[in-house]
Amino acid sequence: MAYTVIIPAAGQGKRMNAGANKQFLTIRAVPLIVRTLQIFERDEACEAMIVVANKDEIIEMKQLFTEYGLRKVTAIVPGGQERQESVYAGLLEINQSEGVVLVHDGARPFVRPEEIRRLAAEVGETQGAVLATKVKDTIKKGSREQVVTETLARDELWAVQTPQAFSYKLLKRAHDVAKKQDFAGTDDAGLVEHIGGTIRLVPGNEENIKLTTPYDIGIAEMILEERKEDQHE
Ligand code: CTP
Ligand code: MG
Repeated sequence: MAYTVIIPAAGQGKRMNAGANKQFLTIRAVPLIVRTLQIFERDEACEAMIVVANKDEIIEMKQLFTEYGLRKVTAIVPGGQERQESVYAGLLEINQSEGVVLVHDGARPFVRPEEIRRLAAEVGETQGAVLATKVKDTIKKGSREQVVTETLARDELWAVQTPQAFSYKLLKRAHDVAKKQDFAGTDDAGLVEHIGGTIRLVPGNEENIKLTTPYDIGIAEMILEERKEDQHE
């Protein structure tokens, strides 16, 4: 199913401790944001990529995209203080009321085309879909005093990733309502849930990590090594 993808890349990358936005970190010589965008550049179903960037990083990103021949990037728009605002800025850039929109973190360079296909196939008028994996650890709730208050039923728990996929109409409505009500969600699906939409869990792959701390760089190198499909070496 044809789609447009919004790529939020307007964070600070504080936990990565790299002294700059982690999107520009190179992993085996190729910048993280470029690696993520290449996945969608090569996916036939992807019609356009909207990148959300920090205002003072737009020029640098634009140069990178030209250098790497990322022709599907139709806009680079300035982001906001929170990820939710950044995604909203991307949504406002899409002036179409029909169609499917995906939201995918700039910091997740390992999602596979096959996963994107299965995800997009689940989108309906009032239904969105997220890639997710069953949690492996037992998850407990704790009080501020760090005392366990509850042990959650593990077989019902999913760790949610991106991409997350929606009809444009549904996601736009969810973001409009959240903005109006000052409702902050931790992901886009959460905003759709807030307006009563259904979200389908689509089993993904645990390789689809979000590069968050320096530790993740080592994992990323390992995944690349395993895949041996890096075309830029
Ligand atoms: N993001 C964004 N706008 C923000 C905050 C985050 O577009 N105001 C993007 C990030 O660039 C990243 C994705 O959302 O691609 C997921 O966020 P996260 O992993 O938390 O990245 P950062 O916010 O950059 O990192 P940190 O929280 O460690 O500062
Ligand atoms: Mg963050």
